[in-house]
Amino acid sequence: MKKYRVLIVTSDGLVPPDNSKDLSDEVKGSSSWKMEYDVMVAIEELGHEVAIIGVFDDLGLLRRTIEEFKPDIVFNLVHEFHGVGVYDHHIAAYLELLRQPYTGCNPRGLMLSRDKILAKKLMQYHRIQTPRFLAYRLNKPFRKPTKLSYPMVVKSSVEDASLGVSQASVVHNEDKLRERVAFVHEQVQSDAVVEEYIEGRELYLGVLGNVRLNTFPPWEIVFPDLPESSMPIATNRAKWNRKYRLEHKIHSRAAYKLPEAVEKQIPAFAKKIYRTLFLTGYARLDCRLRSDGTLFCLEANANCDLSLDDEFALSGDKAGISYPELVQKIISLGLQYKPAWKRAEALSS
Ligand SMILES: Nc1ncnc2c1ncn2[C@@H]1O[C@H](COP(=O)(O)OP(=O)(O)O)[C@@H](O)[C@H]1O
Ligand SMILES: [Mg+2]
Repeated sequence: MKKYRVLIVTSDGLVPPDNSKDLSDEVKGSSSWKMEYDVMVAIEELGHEVAIIGVFDDLGLLRRTIEEFKPDIVFNLVHEFHGVGVYDHHIAAYLELLRQPYTGCNPRGLMLSRDKILAKKLMQYHRIQTPRFLAYRLNKPFRKPTKLSYPMVVKSSVEDASLGVSQASVVHNEDKLRERVAFVHEQVQSDAVVEEYIEGRELYLGVLGNVRLNTFPPWEIVFPDLPESSMPIATNRAKWNRKYRLEHKIHSRAAYKLPEAVEKQIPAFAKKIYRTLFLTGYARLDCRLRSDGTLFCLEANANCDLSLDDEFALSGDKAGISYPELVQKIISLGLQYKPAWKRAEALSS
């Protein structure tokens, strides 16, 4: 196999420390740089040469490192710039302007999938089931959601990783709705999206590819031991707080005993969402399956979490793709991706 020079670029503060390999699994497992560590070790195991930097607000650092290290590919793990999540697609765009091959999703796909309102409008246009919704823009007066039924879920239109999603995000009346929309506006400083709550199983669908797409077996998060008063949703706490997860036995696993018709429908459903949102590289689609067998897409996560023990890698493993193989496939897809500059070059030669 060809050996490459791979530069991992992540956000400032997420570069594993020099002694990371000597740290216990416990420390590594609970660190903020777990994903970067897993990816870095896999790239080393694959025999590639690897370097890693964290960027905060300095594009100069990125540019200089690329000039000096001359990577064949940048492994793009950046999820924010200047501390702003919606700037992530600009990093992919910057790499493209430098004519630097990179892994993961292209700028357009990153932008469309991050914006839940825009993504849902596109899905609706293409007749992909997504919960009925209303957009509550920042600085616009509150209006009654006359066409939606309670309960509803109130989320930021652009923040991911369940930021701002808690039990209070599910509302059952207009007072609570009004309160939660104000919370998102004030605390997250973004538009809010309000959608009908879909009662059912929560499925995560992994997709890998640029043109020819590979879908992974559906993964499911389960909440077997929640207090009566809690809704089974992937809140910030349910996703990231290990103690809370253990306490309530929250975990994810391959989804089994899905209705046959649903099982059959999933690959085409996932591919249609992926293509509708112009995604490339890899993504995880967060979905809900209602008891009548209707599948809904809640959102698409381009450049999703790649940690060894997160849903995407686990479902890839179930599909027979080991973690280093997965990382290698992501690198190969990045090298194969044809941005506009490559097409322009082909035209002029
Ligand atoms: N319409 C909905 N119906 C049921 N649960 C929802 C709905 N929207 C969000 N949730 C719950 O909230 C979690 C986070 O919402 P999601 O749309 O995935 O945003 P993000 O992961 O970007 O915060 C979901 O994984 C799901 O458990
Ligand atoms: Mg999600």
